[in-house]
Amino acid sequence: MSEAKAREHMAMLGKSLFDRGLAFGSAGNLSMRLDDGFLLTPTNACLGRLDPARISKVDESGAHLSGDKPSKENFLHLNMYRERPRAGAVVHLHSTHSVAVSVLDGLAKEDPIPPITAYYVMKIGRLVLLPYFPPGDPALADAVREVAGKHHSILLANHGPVIAGADLDAAVYATEELEETAKLFLMLRGEKLKLLSRDEVAELGRRFPS
Ligand code: 13P
Repeated sequence: MSEAKAREHMAMLGKSLFDRGLAFGSAGNLSMRLDDGFLLTPTNACLGRLDPARISKVDESGAHLSGDKPSKENFLHLNMYRERPRAGAVVHLHSTHSVAVSVLDGLAKEDPIPPITAYYVMKIGRLVLLPYFPPGDPALADAVREVAGKHHSILLANHGPVIAGADLDAAVYATEELEETAKLFLMLRGEKLKLLSRDEVAELGRRFPS
Protein backbone atom coordinates (compact mmCIF):
# COMPACT_ATOMS: atom_id res chain seq x y z
CA MET A 1 0.00 0.00 0.00
CA SER A 2 1.39 3.45 -0.91
CA GLU A 3 1.97 5.94 1.90
CA ALA A 4 -0.89 8.11 0.61
CA LYS A 5 -3.29 5.15 0.69
CA ALA A 6 -2.01 4.11 4.14
CA ARG A 7 -2.75 7.62 5.48
CA GLU A 8 -6.28 7.52 4.07
CA HIS A 9 -6.86 4.01 5.42
CA MET A 10 -5.73 5.04 8.91
CA ALA A 11 -8.07 8.05 8.89
CA MET A 12 -10.96 5.87 7.67
CA LEU A 13 -10.44 3.25 10.41
CA GLY A 14 -9.95 5.94 13.07
CA LYS A 15 -13.33 7.41 12.12
CA SER A 16 -14.93 3.96 12.14
CA LEU A 17 -13.63 3.30 15.69
CA PHE A 18 -14.75 6.75 16.82
CA ASP A 19 -18.21 6.50 15.21
CA ARG A 20 -18.85 3.21 17.04
CA GLY A 21 -17.72 4.53 20.43
CA LEU A 22 -14.53 2.48 20.61
CA ALA A 23 -12.54 5.72 20.64
CA PHE A 24 -13.63 9.07 22.06
CA GLY A 25 -12.16 12.50 22.85
CA SER A 26 -8.47 12.45 21.99
CA ALA A 27 -7.80 9.02 23.51
CA GLY A 28 -6.13 6.20 21.60
CA ASN A 29 -3.51 6.04 18.88
CA LEU A 30 -2.90 4.01 15.72
CA SER A 31 0.32 3.22 13.86
CA MET A 32 1.37 1.48 10.64
CA ARG A 33 4.75 0.28 9.43
CA LEU A 34 5.96 1.76 6.11
CA ASP A 35 9.03 0.85 4.03
CA ASP A 36 10.80 3.97 5.30
CA GLY A 37 9.40 4.55 8.80
CA PHE A 38 6.06 4.50 10.60
CA LEU A 39 2.81 6.44 10.42
CA LEU A 40 1.47 7.36 13.88
CA THR A 41 -1.54 9.40 14.89
CA PRO A 42 -0.62 12.84 16.27
CA THR A 43 -0.76 13.58 20.00
CA ASN A 44 -4.11 14.97 21.19
CA ALA A 45 -5.74 14.09 17.87
CA CYS A 46 -9.32 12.84 17.74
CA LEU A 47 -9.34 9.48 15.91
CA GLY A 48 -12.69 10.47 14.39
CA ARG A 49 -11.27 13.52 12.62
CA LEU A 50 -7.80 12.58 11.39
CA ASP A 51 -6.46 14.61 8.48
CA PRO A 52 -4.48 12.08 6.38
CA ALA A 53 -1.89 14.72 5.42
CA ARG A 54 -1.20 15.64 9.07
CA ILE A 55 -0.71 12.09 10.42
CA SER A 56 2.81 11.96 11.93
CA LYS A 57 5.66 10.07 10.35
CA VAL A 58 8.57 8.88 12.51
CA ASP A 59 11.73 6.91 11.78
CA GLU A 60 12.88 3.71 13.48
CA SER A 61 14.42 5.67 16.36
CA GLY A 62 11.19 7.61 16.93
CA ALA A 63 12.51 10.85 15.43
CA HIS A 64 9.72 13.01 14.03
CA LEU A 65 9.98 13.23 10.21
CA SER A 66 6.76 14.94 9.12
CA GLY A 67 3.15 15.72 9.99
CA ASP A 68 1.92 16.90 13.39
CA LYS A 69 3.74 16.04 16.64
CA PRO A 70 3.47 12.25 17.18
CA SER A 71 1.51 10.52 19.95
CA LYS A 72 3.11 10.47 23.39
CA GLU A 73 2.93 6.64 23.04
CA ASN A 74 5.43 6.78 20.13
CA PHE A 75 7.93 4.52 21.93
CA LEU A 76 5.29 2.05 23.09
CA HIS A 77 4.36 1.50 19.41
CA LEU A 78 8.01 1.34 18.29
CA ASN A 79 8.82 -1.23 20.98
CA MET A 80 6.04 -3.47 19.68
CA TYR A 81 7.55 -3.29 16.18
CA ARG A 82 11.08 -3.86 17.53
CA GLU A 83 10.00 -7.12 19.17
CA ARG A 84 7.56 -8.19 16.45
CA PRO A 85 9.28 -7.88 13.05
CA ARG A 86 6.18 -9.19 11.22
CA ALA A 87 3.80 -6.67 12.80
CA GLY A 88 2.49 -4.12 10.30
CA ALA A 89 0.28 -2.10 12.65
CA VAL A 90 -0.43 -1.36 16.31
CA VAL A 91 -3.68 -0.14 17.89
CA HIS A 92 -4.02 1.39 21.34
CA LEU A 93 -7.49 2.33 22.61
CA HIS A 94 -9.22 3.28 25.86
CA SER A 95 -12.23 1.16 24.85
CA THR A 96 -14.60 1.05 27.82
CA HIS A 97 -15.08 -2.65 28.58
CA SER A 98 -11.42 -3.51 28.06
CA VAL A 99 -10.49 -0.68 30.43
CA ALA A 100 -13.11 -1.90 32.93
CA VAL A 101 -11.46 -5.33 32.99
CA SER A 102 -8.03 -3.69 33.37
CA VAL A 103 -9.22 -2.07 36.59
CA LEU A 104 -10.40 -5.31 38.27
CA ASP A 105 -8.23 -6.26 41.23
CA GLY A 106 -6.69 -9.72 41.50
CA LEU A 107 -6.73 -10.74 37.82
CA ALA A 108 -4.09 -13.17 36.55
CA LYS A 109 -1.22 -11.50 34.72
CA GLU A 110 -1.37 -14.14 31.97
CA ASP A 111 -4.83 -14.72 30.44
CA PRO A 112 -6.69 -12.18 32.62
CA ILE A 113 -9.72 -13.02 30.42
CA PRO A 114 -10.18 -16.81 30.09
CA PRO A 115 -10.89 -18.55 26.74
CA ILE A 116 -14.65 -18.03 26.58
CA THR A 117 -15.10 -18.01 22.79
CA ALA A 118 -13.29 -19.34 19.73
CA TYR A 119 -12.84 -15.91 18.15
CA TYR A 120 -11.29 -14.52 21.30
CA VAL A 121 -8.71 -17.32 21.22
CA MET A 122 -8.13 -16.86 17.47
CA LYS A 123 -7.75 -13.08 17.44
CA ILE A 124 -6.24 -12.35 20.86
CA GLY A 125 -4.46 -15.57 21.82
CA ARG A 126 -2.58 -15.07 25.09
CA LEU A 127 -3.51 -11.69 26.59
CA VAL A 128 -1.06 -10.34 29.17
CA LEU A 129 -1.87 -7.72 31.83
CA LEU A 130 0.82 -5.11 32.61
CA PRO A 131 0.82 -3.00 35.78
CA TYR A 132 -0.16 0.66 35.73
CA PHE A 133 2.22 3.31 34.38
CA PRO A 134 1.32 6.89 33.42
CA PRO A 135 0.50 7.37 29.70
CA GLY A 136 3.59 8.16 27.65
CA ASP A 137 5.97 7.12 30.44
CA PRO A 138 9.21 5.56 29.12
CA ALA A 139 8.77 2.83 31.76
CA LEU A 140 5.46 1.91 30.09
CA ALA A 141 7.18 1.53 26.70
CA ASP A 142 9.92 -0.59 28.37
CA ALA A 143 7.33 -2.81 30.08
CA VAL A 144 5.60 -3.35 26.72
CA ARG A 145 8.92 -4.27 25.11
CA GLU A 146 9.55 -6.94 27.76
CA VAL A 147 6.41 -8.91 26.85
CA ALA A 148 5.90 -7.94 23.17
CA GLY A 149 8.03 -10.78 21.78
CA LYS A 150 5.65 -13.34 23.30
CA HIS A 151 2.36 -11.42 23.24
CA HIS A 152 0.74 -9.41 20.44
CA SER A 153 -2.16 -8.55 22.80
CA ILE A 154 -1.40 -6.51 25.91
CA LEU A 155 -3.77 -4.95 28.44
CA LEU A 156 -2.40 -1.97 30.37
CA ALA A 157 -3.87 -1.78 33.88
CA ASN A 158 -6.15 1.24 34.44
CA HIS A 159 -5.49 2.32 30.86
CA GLY A 160 -6.42 0.04 27.92
CA PRO A 161 -5.35 -2.46 25.25
CA VAL A 162 -2.32 -2.42 22.93
CA ILE A 163 -2.62 -4.87 20.04
CA ALA A 164 -0.28 -5.59 17.13
CA GLY A 165 -1.43 -7.15 13.86
CA ALA A 166 -0.08 -8.09 10.44
CA ASP A 167 -1.80 -4.94 9.12
CA LEU A 168 -4.10 -2.24 10.46
CA ASP A 169 -7.28 -4.18 9.65
CA ALA A 170 -6.03 -7.21 11.59
CA ALA A 171 -5.01 -5.08 14.59
CA VAL A 172 -8.38 -3.29 14.59
CA TYR A 173 -10.33 -6.56 14.29
CA ALA A 174 -8.41 -8.02 17.23
CA THR A 175 -8.96 -4.90 19.33
CA GLU A 176 -12.70 -5.08 18.61
CA GLU A 177 -12.73 -8.78 19.53
CA LEU A 178 -11.05 -7.99 22.84
CA GLU A 179 -13.55 -5.22 23.58
CA GLU A 180 -16.58 -7.45 22.90
CA THR A 181 -15.06 -10.33 24.88
CA ALA A 182 -14.33 -7.97 27.78
CA LYS A 183 -18.03 -7.02 27.66
CA LEU A 184 -19.04 -10.72 27.80
CA PHE A 185 -16.57 -11.37 30.61
CA LEU A 186 -18.06 -8.54 32.69
CA MET A 187 -21.63 -9.71 31.94
CA LEU A 188 -20.73 -13.22 33.08
CA ARG A 189 -18.85 -12.35 36.27
CA GLY A 190 -20.24 -14.43 39.13
CA GLU A 191 -21.73 -17.05 36.77
CA LYS A 192 -20.44 -20.59 36.54
CA LEU A 193 -18.66 -20.70 33.14
CA LYS A 194 -17.95 -23.53 30.74
CA LEU A 195 -14.63 -22.38 29.27
CA LEU A 196 -12.99 -23.79 26.14
CA SER A 197 -10.78 -26.67 27.21
CA ARG A 198 -7.01 -26.74 26.75
CA ASP A 199 -7.50 -29.20 23.85
CA GLU A 200 -10.11 -26.97 22.20
CA VAL A 201 -7.77 -23.98 22.47
CA ALA A 202 -4.87 -26.01 21.01
CA GLU A 203 -7.09 -27.21 18.13
CA LEU A 204 -7.94 -23.58 17.26
CA GLY A 205 -4.21 -22.81 17.20
CA ARG A 206 -3.68 -25.64 14.70
CA ARG A 207 -6.62 -24.69 12.47
CA PHE A 208 -6.08 -20.94 12.56
CA PRO A 209 -2.36 -20.26 13.11
CA SER A 210 -1.74 -16.56 13.66
P1 13P B 1 -1.86 10.82 22.50
O1 13P B 1 -2.95 11.86 22.34
O2 13P B 1 -0.52 11.46 22.79
O3 13P B 1 -1.83 9.88 21.32
O4 13P B 1 -2.21 9.98 23.77
C1 13P B 1 -3.50 9.41 23.88
C2 13P B 1 -3.48 8.15 24.63
O5 13P B 1 -4.29 7.30 24.36
C3 13P B 1 -2.49 7.96 25.71
O6 13P B 1 -2.46 6.64 26.12
